[in-house]
Amino acid sequence: MNILILGGGGREHALAWAIQQNPKCDRLIVAPGNAGIARIAECAALDIEDGGAVAVFAEENAVDFVVIGPEAPLAAGVADRLAAAGILCFGPSRDAAQLESSKAFTKAICDTCGAPTAAYGHFTDADAAKAHVRAEGAPIVVKADGLAAGKGVIVAETVAEAEAAIDEMFGGAFGGAGAEVVIEEFMEGEEASFFVLCDGEHVLPIGTAQDHKRAGEGDTGPNTGGMGAYSPAPVMTEAVCARALDEIVRPTVAEMARRGTPYRGVLYAGLMVKDGAPRLVEYNVRFGDPECQVLMMRLGGQVLDLMLACAEGRLAEAGVNWADDHAMTVVMAAKGYPGAYEKGSVIGGLDALPEDSAHMVFHAGTAERDGRLVAAGGRVLNVTARGASLAEARARAYGMVDRIDWPGGFCRRDIGWRAL
Ligand code: AMP
Ligand code: GLY
Repeated sequence: MNILILGGGGREHALAWAIQQNPKCDRLIVAPGNAGIARIAECAALDIEDGGAVAVFAEENAVDFVVIGPEAPLAAGVADRLAAAGILCFGPSRDAAQLESSKAFTKAICDTCGAPTAAYGHFTDADAAKAHVRAEGAPIVVKADGLAAGKGVIVAETVAEAEAAIDEMFGGAFGGAGAEVVIEEFMEGEEASFFVLCDGEHVLPIGTAQDHKRAGEGDTGPNTGGMGAYSPAPVMTEAVCARALDEIVRPTVAEMARRGTPYRGVLYAGLMVKDGAPRLVEYNVRFGDPECQVLMMRLGGQVLDLMLACAEGRLAEAGVNWADDHAMTVVMAAKGYPGAYEKGSVIGGLDALPEDSAHMVFHAGTAERDGRLVAAGGRVLNVTARGASLAEARARAYGMVDRIDWPGGFCRRDIGWRAL
């Protein structure tokens, strides 16, 4: 079959890498793709948030299946537009994507279905929000309601910090995403990511992971899109996974169906686990980036069969084949990220690295210029490895990092510290 993946980051490189291992995949196109993806698939220039343009492109190229990587096209209704054109698609409708695009929507769903999450208040003016913060005290969490590229959340240690964040959000620092603000109870515990596929009715867990959101070692410094990840996450024991399914994910999926907006696609539950009890931090309606890279490393080509089962409503008959293995990815970013950074620095040494089912460098923000690979974004490379233990996966990943010649880049040296 002919498959189109929308997106151009490390997540989409990993999706393309896994999907093209499946014999069902004949032609693979990624829009827009990147320099690494271009080595394994065709890349196409396309406005991926324009559902009409995506549908026309898919028809012109006889695409049988579209996989939507990032949240923006989902929130823009690209899946709805493809469904209307009769094109099979992996990813939720615009209504269902509100589980990520609106924190207030998700809170309301949790209230209705009883899913455990932080207590919260929802505000449209700064004075009421500040009064709430003063009444509750710190630490407290201030969130812009809409999509803010993972940067619209301030975990405030003091009331003054929370008030400043409120002013910043209502002052337009996050554009439209900050017109409404959610203020949440600070939850203690260990964070983990839990991934399930849903076909509107059935739910299939496909793995757990732990991300490293802070830029600096020891989980210090500013928040980023994620500096590294590993799978599985030890805190997500079988018992915790079962509770997350029964208490959070299944009630949510049932409530979405009851509302007439069934959820289809991958549902990523960001959880806070304390004393064996999971609570929901947030949902994402797509794979995590870089969590996807470690999941794909472990799942390989079967992910295409699982995605098809999900899109076609056959998930009840699907199962996952698990190897008892571990994967880790180390993000290499341009110096300065997540603040200002330079583009265009030359990256060397990749061609000499092993590339097999245990070693893979996924590209995030890269481009090819005059035959040389250059950095073209903040997060640039995802150096990913698999092993029989997490320690082995980690040794392999850092072994590759050490052979990459990129003076303009940096990475955290402690990915996996919590588990090891
Ligand atoms: P979010 O974008 O909602 O995932 O928030 C980004 C990060 O902020 C999360 O990954 C957590 O580390 C932290 N965070 C968000 N909400 C809370 C909360 N209610 N309690 C504690 N930490 C939180
Ligand atoms: N790595 C976090 C995310 O993709 O949201």
